[in-house]
Amino acid sequence: MSSSLFSLTNRVAVVSGAAQGLGRATALALAQHGAHTVLVDRNLVGTEATASQIRSLGRETLVAQTDVANPDAIAELFQQVDARFGRVDFLGNIAGDGHLAKPEDLTIADLHRVLQNLVVGRFAMCQEAGRRMLAQGRGSIMNIGSLASSTALGRGHIAYSMAMGAVIQMTRELSTEWAYRGVRVNCVTPAQVVNPGLEARMASDSTLEGRFLRGIPAGRLGRPNDIMGLAVFLASDSSEWITGAIIPMDGGNMAMNAGGTPGHEQRAVQSFHAESK
Ligand SMILES: NC(=O)c1ccc[n+]([C@@H]2O[C@H](COP(=O)([O-])OP(=O)(O)OC[C@H]3O[C@@H](n4cnc5c(N)ncnc54)[C@H](O)[C@@H]3O)[C@@H](O)[C@H]2O)c1
Repeated sequence: MSSSLFSLTNRVAVVSGAAQGLGRATALALAQHGAHTVLVDRNLVGTEATASQIRSLGRETLVAQTDVANPDAIAELFQQVDARFGRVDFLGNIAGDGHLAKPEDLTIADLHRVLQNLVVGRFAMCQEAGRRMLAQGRGSIMNIGSLASSTALGRGHIAYSMAMGAVIQMTRELSTEWAYRGVRVNCVTPAQVVNPGLEARMASDSTLEGRFLRGIPAGRLGRPNDIMGLAVFLASDSSEWITGAIIPMDGGNMAMNAGGTPGHEQRAVQSFHAESK
């Protein structure tokens, strides 16, 4: 069921990271509102599981096992989309992961890998989708940034923050260049949303969840489904005059400027753990 304001009937949405988490939730929400989806992830098993949920809604899917850090693979992906659907109305640019290391220890190779994955990959996806949307005269792109796009997190996030900072500037540049030609580009910046990686980090540091929650006025961590409404809104005509926006999805974190964890507090936590062993 979807009201006409949020209808995505017969639109084609490309969603990366579709095997789980924010990507899966985005793809499901778009399909629930009528879109056909191209489901992109390096994890084929998870992506097939998302696809079978979407097919049960009666929508078409194309599953692509694509590494979004590889621009050649992205070019091939969009050729498949051309052959199957002949258009792209929405891009959910979501896949990608970071790497945790202290600034003094981060290797240049790891920094390159993170930038390739989160910056070059996101740009190549925008470029391929954007070219098609420009030719159509309409389209919408939702890039996923992070709290780390605008605020320092500490805790070894240097490479991730450098990359996510670039994602919001990319969004602003693309929206400025493409808005008058009908293509909108926005960026959603989540705070901590539960996923397997975050759960493992919280399990290995018993203070971490509490520190996250102190920065979230809403009083809970994010859930993947928290993106569903935003994704439908940004894909639909209801957001027609919204472009270049950086949209926090963070339970109020940025509003109170909660930021990250300073080094001296991390040192105190580490010594507390060492003493309690
Ligand atoms: N979860 C959070 O707290 C949070 C907060 C801010 C930003 N983000 C960002 O949002 C995005 C999605 O987060 P999530 O919580 O859904 O993560 P997740 O780890 O649950 O899922 C990420 C998905 O992306 C896929 N992926 C990663 N790199 C890929 C690549 N190079 N090519 C193809 N697929 C790839 C993985 O296989 C996985 O299915 C990530 O870019 C993440 O950095 C997440």
